[in-house]
Amino acid sequence: MARAVTFDERGPVGLMGIDNPPVNAISHSVRCGLHDAMAQAAKNPRIKALLITSDGKQFSAGADITEFDRPQGEPSLQQVQTAIEFSSIPIVAAIGGLALGGGLELAMACHYRVAHKDAKLGMPEITLGIIPGAGGTQRLPRLIGAGAALNMILSGTPISALEAKDKGLVDDVVEGDLRHAALSFCERLVQEGRGPRPTCNRSVSDSLDEAEIASALLAHARALKGRSTQQLVIEAIKASRLPFAQGIAIEASIAQKSLASRESLALRHVFFAERESGKLSGASTIHNKRTQTPAIQRVAVIGAGTMGSGIAVAFADAALDVMINDNDPASLTRSREVVSSTYASSVRRGRIAQSVADERIRRIRHAHTLAEVADADLVIEAVFEDVETKKDVLTRLDSALPAERVIATNTSTLSVTELARATAHPERVLGLHFFVPAHASRLLEIVRTEHTSPESLATAFRIAKLLKKVAVVSRDAFGFIGNRMMLDGYFREAEQLLLEGATPAQVDTALENFGFAMGPQRVSDLGGNDVGTKARAQLFKRDSRPDPYFVIADRLTEMGRLGQKTGRGFYTYENGSREAVSDPEVHNLIEKLASDRGIRRREINDEEIIERCILSLVNVGAMVLEEGTAARAADVDVVWTSGYGFPRHLGGPMFYADTLGLSHVLEGIRHYHEKLGHYWRPARLIERLASSGSSFEAWDRTSASP
Ligand code: 3HC
Repeated sequence: MARAVTFDERGPVGLMGIDNPPVNAISHSVRCGLHDAMAQAAKNPRIKALLITSDGKQFSAGADITEFDRPQGEPSLQQVQTAIEFSSIPIVAAIGGLALGGGLELAMACHYRVAHKDAKLGMPEITLGIIPGAGGTQRLPRLIGAGAALNMILSGTPISALEAKDKGLVDDVVEGDLRHAALSFCERLVQEGRGPRPTCNRSVSDSLDEAEIASALLAHARALKGRSTQQLVIEAIKASRLPFAQGIAIEASIAQKSLASRESLALRHVFFAERESGKLSGASTIHNKRTQTPAIQRVAVIGAGTMGSGIAVAFADAALDVMINDNDPASLTRSREVVSSTYASSVRRGRIAQSVADERIRRIRHAHTLAEVADADLVIEAVFEDVETKKDVLTRLDSALPAERVIATNTSTLSVTELARATAHPERVLGLHFFVPAHASRLLEIVRTEHTSPESLATAFRIAKLLKKVAVVSRDAFGFIGNRMMLDGYFREAEQLLLEGATPAQVDTALENFGFAMGPQRVSDLGGNDVGTKARAQLFKRDSRPDPYFVIADRLTEMGRLGQKTGRGFYTYENGSREAVSDPEVHNLIEKLASDRGIRRREINDEEIIERCILSLVNVGAMVLEEGTAARAADVDVVWTSGYGFPRHLGGPMFYADTLGLSHVLEGIRHYHEKLGHYWRPARLIERLASSGSSFEAWDRTSASP
């Protein structure tokens, strides 16, 4: 086993450096390394203090999550912490980069903490559906108070070193060379004769009262909607009032419970799925990290519309220079306004300082001739969603740019293959499907054609990483991954339920209670019913769908009920309010459309709404897999949890289907197939997996293709 902790003697100080790339996770080898280094130091009378630091960029990203589902091996992190706390010489943690989860828990067991001013300290366990299980719920309250600890653990978001100092979590914040400053700190301890100071011996200064708990839950209610880990966190923090040994035992049993929960399995699935989706697997494997890609510093965006401007902002946010190109001066003027107002809003909301906004605005140039894009490292075409217009732009870009430069087309509906054919180098063309708003949305669908080269794909992955977006590769097909499942599955079924008797509010509320951030009709109203109608018209040029495919949304578009922007859509919005109010005109319209089609209306309950919307989503998801549009079921989960509001704590539609059991899923799909007709045809992949008692997760392990 490679040495994961280095040991060095520096005067009276023993220096332990955690060296476990890429993120210094506290795996078994690190725990052994720390344990051995402490044992070595104990035998050395010259050593009067110990310093734990990192040989990498991060102090530590926490416990090794890959070890969670297997026996962890001794020493456990808790055993290492006990050895630290009861060491006869003082032990100091020097925190640079990130100290997260178990990494911070390790530091909290040290007697003193010194942090670099740029360091961040946090307890993100709740994002994985677990409680901090290595003393975090017992030591953090002892250091910063129970109320502050509750907020920090519920938020999951790291705090700055200065905030940590204010709260009493670190003893000193330093600038410049952390190791040097921390060694001086240790030497001072030795000179001043300050010895060990076990955190476990402290008591908690405050106790949690119900009002404080309620206010903390309220502050994090949005992120924790539908979740249960927060109750376990509260239970564990309450135990910090007890003597340490008792509290830690309670924490250990609650931690075990959280680790075994469905919520945690689902959230850990999404954590790894998001990291895996940024890679391609299978026969023609390329790994983006291993494929050489040229550096990207300058980007050109063609088309100064809302999408083009949003994409430019996304790149400027990532500290890249961007040029927005459009041959229409009025569009360029509007784009400047969009960029300014986007940044003004970020400043107003306190997300960035005015000076940062100014610097980012300066990164964005506007130009009106294509000749000016020639020195861009990457060009993204984001002109009007029309095949001939886009082809024309791509042809011109193809002759203006050196052959190795990647050309991306931002489309949600058109065939990227057809667009690529307009160039002499289709291998450098791919689709980048940005979501609205392009600078804030997390998901980026990368659309590959038969011709797209591995190098072009690797560049697309690099872009996603630069933009801090989650990338998923889709083959070029109707709606790619996300919209195909939304249109043929989830939203289509929601409309069908309206025709059969449910109201928009009933459908939306049922799905919001299931965990979706927003129900389908409210989403349509927000995005604009006309946007959906236009997109479907474009998609139908690839492949059409029989009536009643979105007959209600299209009729609303014809009536000018475009959604929130016109104050009327599936709902009415009074005086610019976002509150959706039911509208009898829409109910009458739906009844008429149903009666024209001979659909008999009836009472529909919430269970049926959820079952039909989710099963149809899963069924189309399986088709997307069997057709090869998505490579892995986990990729589908990433698309839906990061781009379409599917509840992350349920793991995404395919993971959720696995938890229901595919035989049960198939039974439901067959039932609706019989009742509702061909569009409910069961996916062959589900039939195959269900018949052998298998799952999407198992399919990913054995058969997923690139
Ligand atoms: N354990 C194991 N592997 C981890 C890990 C962890 N805690 N954190 C990151 N990794 C792995 C990733 O899977 C990825 O592996 P890959 O290259 O094979 O795909 C690699 O490290 C790099 O990670 P990212 O791609 O995410 O790198 P970034 O630079 O974008 O982000 C990060 C770095 C912010 C540290 C991010 O990885 C992260 O948020 N990690 C998880 C942090 C976390 O949740 N810590 C708590 C763990 S649970 C715990 O500590 C329990 C304790 O209470 C007992």
